[in-house]
Amino acid sequence: MNAPAPLKDISACVFDAYGTLFDVHSAAARCRDDLGEKADALSGFWRQKQLEYTWLRSLMGAHTDFWQITGDALDYAMAATGFDDSALREKLMSLYLELDAYPEVPGVLQTLKDAGMKTAILSNGSPMMLDSAVGNAGIAAQLDAVLSIEAVGIFKVSPKTYQLAVDRLGVAPEAICFMSSNAWDAAGAAYFGFQVAWVNRFGQPKERLPGEPKAEITSLEPLPGLVCG
Ligand code: LAC
Repeated sequence: MNAPAPLKDISACVFDAYGTLFDVHSAAARCRDDLGEKADALSGFWRQKQLEYTWLRSLMGAHTDFWQITGDALDYAMAATGFDDSALREKLMSLYLELDAYPEVPGVLQTLKDAGMKTAILSNGSPMMLDSAVGNAGIAAQLDAVLSIEAVGIFKVSPKTYQLAVDRLGVAPEAICFMSSNAWDAAGAAYFGFQVAWVNRFGQPKERLPGEPKAEITSLEPLPGLVCG
């Protein structure tokens, strides 16, 4: 992969939370003693169902918050992998409030702030979940805003969710660089009008959807070099 060309005229960096700043598989990884060889399968089902339920509930017009959806998805994942254990369910849910941040996250946020960039999270996560994850990672001081889609009551990739960042930061879409490791979120944000850097942490193929990311990176490490020109 060639180094991506710098993005021009960016004044705010907006980050997806789950999978991009926080490692969603770190909860199950910390329960390997309980989950054994099924840890990865459970974690995969958990994440996939969590995302599907956001899309399905948005289409159904049956919104509920991401905490409820995360619990529903875990119930599905536990059933699919043969676990019936309420103490384990509780343990996994509390670990979801303390997911590991990827190692480069605090340093990159600080570099962006030092360069005068506005920084924010824009996530499906509920305010309670985001407060907890941000506090646990110790990155609150490096963020100008933590925006939850609960303010608009529909999940990504509704354009209403991306508009939240425009309205709250007072920055035009084309001056916002949006980062997501979720290729579908990167596509949705690019289609909305953000300049997007897809953080392809997992070596996934690109989505066949409208909305083209401007840059592809494999971690957040190169971001300051891309946007602080
Ligand atoms: C989020 C999900 C998409 O944080 O990871 O919005």
